[in-house]
Amino acid sequence: MNGPALPYLRQGGPRLTVGMITADLLHLGDEMTVLERAGVELVHIDVMDGVFCPMTTVGPPIVAALRGPMLKDVHLMIDDPLPKLDAYVAAGADLITFQIEGAPQPHRVLQILAGAVNRNDPDRGIVRGIAIAPSTSIRAIEPLLDETDYVLVLAVNPGWGGQTFIPATEARLAEARRLIETSGRPILLGVDGGVTRANIARVAALSADVIVSGSAIFDGKAAAENAAFMVEQVAAATRATMIHA
Ligand code: DX5
Ligand code: ZN
Repeated sequence: MNGPALPYLRQGGPRLTVGMITADLLHLGDEMTVLERAGVELVHIDVMDGVFCPMTTVGPPIVAALRGPMLKDVHLMIDDPLPKLDAYVAAGADLITFQIEGAPQPHRVLQILAGAVNRNDPDRGIVRGIAIAPSTSIRAIEPLLDETDYVLVLAVNPGWGGQTFIPATEARLAEARRLIETSGRPILLGVDGGVTRANIARVAALSADVIVSGSAIFDGKAAAENAAFMVEQVAAATRATMIHA
């Protein structure tokens, strides 16, 4: 893509971003090629630090190693993200989203990210995201909306792939959408976790601009087919919205 990422992502209907943690990490380049060929535009990198989350996953070297046309969508499920931001910016992150529960000063994190330059293309900017866990009131995003480009509502608890989509997420997305609209700012809304072949059509019909799916695509069997199916389901939801608009 050319030009700023935020307006690009806000147009044209919801985007699928694919979680890579459940991919075959020893053949990550091939796995990314599968996604690109299926029309996936973003790769979602779940960073877990063994502190905020019990598990440890990947860090800046893997973010840097991911190359290609997909935007690098980094989800920091870590304690105290502030001192780690530079490393992810240097690794070429296009979106940086952190859990507000792990950040002692989330507004400061967003202010720092506002001054960061995208290493892939300075014109692209870095999309600044806040992620919110299922146990946190959605109202916690309100004081941060003046510095936020992206609100990611978790539909599962942070830390594990393959969990079931929590039904209360639908109402939480609607509440987040209302707060975003009240702010009057151009902010993306995303949903992360528990999105499968069985529920993606329903999820795509909610008000999210960005939909994360990981283990349902990298199921060890049919990643190419799963990714193409998910991309098509999201596109179908967009077409339906345009017809009814
Ligand atoms: C939750 C992560 C999610 C999740 C996505 O810890 O932020 O990105 O792993 O994976 P699935 O699609 O398997 O729920
Ligand atoms: Zn995630």
